[in-house]
Amino acid sequence: MSADIKSSLPKPPSDPRPEAVRTTLPIWIIVLTLMLLFLGGLYFDNHSGWFQTQVYGPYASVDQLELYQPKSGAAAELARGKVVYEQVCGLCHGADGLGKPGQAPPLAGSEWVMAKGYNRLAHIPLAGLSGNISVAGKDWNMGMAAMGAALPDADLAAVLTYIRTSWGNGASPVPMEDVTKVRAGLGARPQPMSHDMLMTMPE
Ligand code: HEC
Repeated sequence: MSADIKSSLPKPPSDPRPEAVRTTLPIWIIVLTLMLLFLGGLYFDNHSGWFQTQVYGPYASVDQLELYQPKSGAAAELARGKVVYEQVCGLCHGADGLGKPGQAPPLAGSEWVMAKGYNRLAHIPLAGLSGNISVAGKDWNMGMAAMGAALPDADLAAVLTYIRTSWGNGASPVPMEDVTKVRAGLGARPQPMSHDMLMTMPE
């Protein structure tokens, strides 16, 4: 009798406690999140003006904003030179022009930068430099690519004027026409300058 009752009851489920399935977070979500963070960081760098309240709209830094303020000729030239310098040369030579050990010699106090004439100086960023060169009593032998060759003449003239008149350097400005002449004299694919080549040309 009792066996009959048992067999007529519904059977219990075979696995009474349901369990959640564990899956690991897909790697692409992690990668995507990191990439978005990185891109956000880049965007911030380029557009925030580092929270300076004067900087907004399309401008990215106080320097850039100053560049677009109306100025008289010489001040505008210097502001332009500073911006180009910091974008193109400052990475190696330092924003303060003091150079960096093992990377690049100083431009502040350099006899090449402050020479009476700027003919040799203009050859350096246009053609590059190779071999030994002594700067303010120290020897360097690292070579420099033609870092200024891709710049328009006006920008290179502004950079050279900036380095000749900043950080206590007190040399004359460099007119754009003279950069044009030096570039034309060098031709399309100039050899990098050496110390000896520079010394054969007028200062
Ligand atoms: C990638 C790093 C780098 C960049 C960018 C760079 N330079 Fe140089 N520069 C050097 C090195 C290294 C030397 C020394 C070369 C040697 O030892 O032959 C040098 C030498 C010089 C010199 C002669 C030595 C002196 O200190 O006076 C001048 C002038 C100069 N650079 C100007 C510039 C200008 C202007 C720019 C930007 C248009 C520029 N450099 C960008 C690395 C750099």
